[in-house]
Amino acid sequence: MSSLQLKLLFLLLSSVFHVLLFATSNGAQVPHEAKGQWQLLQANIGIVAMHMQLLHNDRVIILDRTDFGFSNISLPNGTCRHDPGDTAVKIDCTAHSVEYDIATNTLRPLFIQTNTWCSSGSVDPYGRLVQTGGNGDGSRAVRTIDPCPACNWNEDPNGLLVKRWYSTNHMLPGGRHIIVGGRGQFNFEFFPKRNPADFRPHFMPFLKDTTDNLRQEENNLYPFVFLNVDGNLFIFANNRAILFNYRNNTVVKTYPAIPGGDPRCYPSTGSAVLLPLNNLESETVEAEVLICGGATSEAFILAGQGTFLNALNTCARMKLTDQNPNWSLETMPGGRVMNDLITLPNGDVLIINGASEGSAGYDYAVNPVFAPFLYKPNDPAGNRFEELNPSKIARMYHSTAVLARDGRVLVGGSNPRSNYVFKGVLFPTELRFESFSPPYLDPQFSDLRPAIVSPNNLSPRNLTYTESFKMVISFKDGRVVVAPDLVSVTMYAPPFNTHSFSMNQRLLVLSNGELRNTGNMSYEFDVTMPPSPFLAPPGFYILFAVHQGIPSEGIWIQLQEIKKYQPNY
Ligand SMILES: *[C@@H]1O[C@H](CO)[C@@H](O)[C@H](O)[C@H]1NC(C)=O
Ligand SMILES: *[C@@H]1O[C@H](CO)[C@@H](O)[C@H](O)[C@H]1NC(C)=O
Ligand SMILES: *[C@@H]1O[C@H](CO)[C@@H](O)[C@H](O)[C@H]1NC(C)=O
Ligand SMILES: *[C@@H]1O[C@H](CO)[C@@H](O)[C@H](O)[C@H]1NC(C)=O
Ligand SMILES: *[C@@H]1O[C@H](CO)[C@@H](O)[C@H](O)[C@H]1NC(C)=O
Ligand SMILES: *[C@@H]1O[C@H](CO)[C@@H](O)[C@H](O)[C@H]1NC(C)=O
Repeated sequence: MSSLQLKLLFLLLSSVFHVLLFATSNGAQVPHEAKGQWQLLQANIGIVAMHMQLLHNDRVIILDRTDFGFSNISLPNGTCRHDPGDTAVKIDCTAHSVEYDIATNTLRPLFIQTNTWCSSGSVDPYGRLVQTGGNGDGSRAVRTIDPCPACNWNEDPNGLLVKRWYSTNHMLPGGRHIIVGGRGQFNFEFFPKRNPADFRPHFMPFLKDTTDNLRQEENNLYPFVFLNVDGNLFIFANNRAILFNYRNNTVVKTYPAIPGGDPRCYPSTGSAVLLPLNNLESETVEAEVLICGGATSEAFILAGQGTFLNALNTCARMKLTDQNPNWSLETMPGGRVMNDLITLPNGDVLIINGASEGSAGYDYAVNPVFAPFLYKPNDPAGNRFEELNPSKIARMYHSTAVLARDGRVLVGGSNPRSNYVFKGVLFPTELRFESFSPPYLDPQFSDLRPAIVSPNNLSPRNLTYTESFKMVISFKDGRVVVAPDLVSVTMYAPPFNTHSFSMNQRLLVLSNGELRNTGNMSYEFDVTMPPSPFLAPPGFYILFAVHQGIPSEGIWIQLQEIKKYQPNY
């Protein structure tokens, strides 16, 4: 049996004997079924976490909108925002963006001028967050922030060619960002502009064709965009998808619509992930997407009239690289709209946040779903979902979730209203910030958990495509039986999360050589970086060592740009 077959067999077995396998030998711990743990990190972060992005200094940049009125956190040193065009307040000495430091659990208010409401973003190859669009004076803005202790936002109010509200960003292999769509914008553009053709927006009929009634349902805003392994973009809007060559504006392939035809994009908001990419050195790397939740096409209009329809309880999964791709449907433990999909370091998918009735929009949903679902893509169909421990906090419209390097998922936001309302409504503005520790962080698995000894996080690794390097991992306890064939290294691109979609999220399972036992519960082995920026665009990633499904704490690495892909990719 090959090591891959062994891994797959193990994944299969581990799902069947989920708990028993992990009983410790001395019986000191009584194994229980791990369902994850919630922890309140901050009772009040001052703003609504409408948008979140983790940067490689382990700080999360959090953004609200600027025209909500006064937030609950002041700008430092008496700084104020003067904006005669702001519809809520003209002089505002409160912050609408903050930086959250994971290590110290502290906040730093940031200054932002232009309106970020329903904007988008992605991190460039140098680790800088590039944040685009929004509403009003922010509709054409490009804002950047570097990861550093005193860095703040830089804003160019005219950085985009057209107004973009509810658009989706993705990093490209050549280090550019593509910004797709936005309300009433059936086109895309690049940032930064590198070619003469970059200075005009490019018409994309697919975005027009997938619009249900402009300014009513729409159902195709914040389209789900993923870089496919062949260098084209997979673009899903409403209930269908295309494979798109952004270099010459051609539709390479049209995929079948999701069976049932229900929409999955804003405001019938579901979510999507690219499932982990494996066998990266193969000629034919496979890519698969998973889309979960959403609402029926009437849900938004009816919610406006006070009738809340059941959210969709299906996930649709498709191998985009198949010759004749088609969706297969799976049923979640319950219906969900405005759910986030977070890829975990071990390749499982966490389905978190959202509601079971209604749609996205102000006060358009009821019945929050407090319990995340875990989806195990490698388990047999019909047996992939597990319901985890619930939070006590409703995370409705304008809530977010991001994965941290320590394996926790940070959860914030929820404000289904157009201003800050703390009392007297069903779902008040939510300023509490929590973490969810997935089952793999349960103490009963601590013996199995590897630690990456080398390279370490204090010396960020600068790596090139195809480069191999030595990794050393160790286990803290001599009692654990290490299964060398069940160690893998995964590489995670931290996404920009807003409106239930995590832009740029991807996880790659890297190739690794055989483990050499170096004594003292340590193992050394070679790890190889992906062969091409089509598989992983240049930039910062988190590497995790995973043993029997239990991930280590991650380390940051930087994957270098390849100049030959500029300026055309
Ligand atoms: C935040 O809310 C608390 C409690 O309502 C209040 O005392 C405080 O002044 C508020 N802070 C800001 C900066 O608005
Ligand atoms: C506030 O002002 C003090 C004194 O001028 C300065 O040292 C400090 O860096 C300022 N803080 C911020 C966050 O700008
Ligand atoms: C677009 O580019 C692809 C790949 O380079 C090529 O196969 C295709 O023919 C081009 N299409 C058009 C319309 O130029
Ligand atoms: C895709 O699968 C669905 C059932 O899930 C089936 O009804 C449909 O005909 C299939 N489409 C294609 C193009 O094979
Ligand atoms: C990696 O190398 C590039 C180019 O030499 C440099 O600009 C960058 O700062 C390096 N990054 C790290 C994390 O050392
Ligand atoms: C083994 O590891 C422990 C804990 O990390 C360390 O204290 C000890 O010195 C190591 N022993 C050897 C022989 O390397």
